[in-house]
Amino acid sequence: MNNMVRYDLPRSLPVISKKKENVKTATLEFHLHEFIATIPGQFFMLWLPNDDEIPISISKRQKKHLFFTICDLGQTSRNMINIDPGTLIGLRGPFGNGFRLTKKKTALIIGGGMGMAPLRYLLSEICLKRDKNVVLIYGAKTDNEILFKKELEKLPLNQLIYCTEDGSEGYTGYPTDRMNDVLANHPFDQSTIEIYACGPELMLKNVLEISKLYDLIPVTQINLADRYIKCGFGICGSCILDANGLSICRDGPVFRGDILVKVTDFGFFGRNKNGSKYIFESKSH
Ligand SMILES: Cc1cc2nc3c(=O)[nH]c(=O)nc-3n(C[C@H](O)[C@H](O)[C@H](O)COP(=O)(O)OP(=O)(O)OC[C@H]3O[C@@H](n4cnc5c(N)ncnc54)[C@H](O)[C@@H]3O)c2cc1C
Ligand code: FES
Repeated sequence: MNNMVRYDLPRSLPVISKKKENVKTATLEFHLHEFIATIPGQFFMLWLPNDDEIPISISKRQKKHLFFTICDLGQTSRNMINIDPGTLIGLRGPFGNGFRLTKKKTALIIGGGMGMAPLRYLLSEICLKRDKNVVLIYGAKTDNEILFKKELEKLPLNQLIYCTEDGSEGYTGYPTDRMNDVLANHPFDQSTIEIYACGPELMLKNVLEISKLYDLIPVTQINLADRYIKCGFGICGSCILDANGLSICRDGPVFRGDILVKVTDFGFFGRNKNGSKYIFESKSH
């Protein structure tokens, strides 16, 4: 990890602003007291007093200002997006590794649902230099769940491909269908492309399978942001992956494809709060 400073204990900070992104998602802004180095893909634990603490990726940063985009997926996330500016939240982090930026000519970015939150920060870093071909494929259930639409449309992207499950915006279907089309139509190899993905784990499993078809597994970076996190720094064992014992919070949440292909539970099952297994929904992504 490349951070010089990290909040190991919750640092109580007021929410500076709240922006509603859609009916079930909001972005909270915080102003850190000191400069903390972060990289896209890293996350913080956000603690709502008298409620719970949950892992949330950095979705944007501007100097000492950090932004977190939170989707209502349960009690704590719902309570967090309903708070008012000025409310104190405890922040621990940043945790985990992040996406590795490379000098490859093309960046192919695949996002699904809330996976767009960490990818938004990644995109802003990649687009800063304007020296790459950037292709973004972004899938959501329906058009009103597409996040950051205006912002994405202002970025210098070579291609912005939307997919929705109900066909209300862009292609009907999953982003992995379009990923296959993009790779089938261009002669990319490991020296010319880097692939970045974040979204539901079944989608990520398909991303890795498609990368394999085109011999691109070593240049595929996958952000696993769909697992249970407790301590955030590798001591409690809640987020350990079978069968190689890597932890998502310390060794991830971003993993290279050649590491993930050895993870036997990837795309098959995760673990609940009490450590018991749950099977990922078996629908195509
Ligand atoms: C590394 C990482 C980064 C994430 N980044 C974001 C983000 O930027 N924006 C966002 O909206 N969501 C993000 N999530 C998911 C988010 O942490 C969960 O949706 C949230 O914790 C739900 O909590 P809840 O109490 O509201 O829901 P609950 O009702 O408790 O659970 C709803 C779902 O969230 C999962 N969940 C609950 N608690 C945790 C936890 N401590 N760790 C992980 N999953 C949990 C449950 O397994 C369940 O599937 C991230 C998860 C991880 C692991
Ligand atoms: S959350 Fe404790 S080891 Fe990862």
